[in-house]
Amino acid sequence: MIKIAPSILAADPLHLGEEVKRAEKAGCDWIHVDIMDGHFVPNLAFSPAVVAAIRRETSLPLDVHLMMDDPGSMLDTFLSAGADSVTIHAEIRGDLPELLGRIHAAGASAGIAIKPATPVERVIPYFEQAEMILAMTVEPGFGGQQLDARVPEKISALRQAGYTGEIEADGGIREDNLKFLTEHGLTVAVMGTALFRNEDMEAAVRRMHEMTRN
Ligand code: DX5
Ligand code: ZN
Repeated sequence: MIKIAPSILAADPLHLGEEVKRAEKAGCDWIHVDIMDGHFVPNLAFSPAVVAAIRRETSLPLDVHLMMDDPGSMLDTFLSAGADSVTIHAEIRGDLPELLGRIHAAGASAGIAIKPATPVERVIPYFEQAEMILAMTVEPGFGGQQLDARVPEKISALRQAGYTGEIEADGGIREDNLKFLTEHGLTVAVMGTALFRNEDMEAAVRRMHEMTRN
């Protein structure tokens, strides 16, 4: 059964606490927090203070997605703010094994994200060091985009390459493309627009859990 991680980038920024509570009540599994530095992606989003505030608001695992050129510069801050999982991008110039090691040393799970155009070969060397691979289904930076049709095959390719951890996808995921993604090996679906713009989030989450129950 798929794990559903609502992306608060699509939530009402003036009512984040209520939106997180709404997601928890609706039966979502994780909370996905996008962090953007305005360099790695042409957008800015959230802060360690928001992660800490959300930590106080929910007991759901916080899945923090660092879209940052230099995630190492603020990694400890996000970890102490309460991140349960921290995902860094394979495209950065940093020392991935060192960063993944720091995430583990803080007791959190480590993820590596790849943009739609980045081949899976880029992350194969880190399979043993990452509890999760995030296959971005859109170019990172903004919600509400269309799912990139190249990515389902990348999810299968990760499984064929022997990856047995969580595979998360993020961007453009809706009820009508979710099952297709899970058939390729997806285990965590990040959804922003499709959840927070949904007048009955609870019913949608129930349907999506149901349709992916194996
Ligand atoms: C984009 C973010 C996604 C986004 C979700 O860079 O990483 O989490 O908010 O997108 P939608 O709204 O398409 O589900
Ligand atoms: Zn994200």
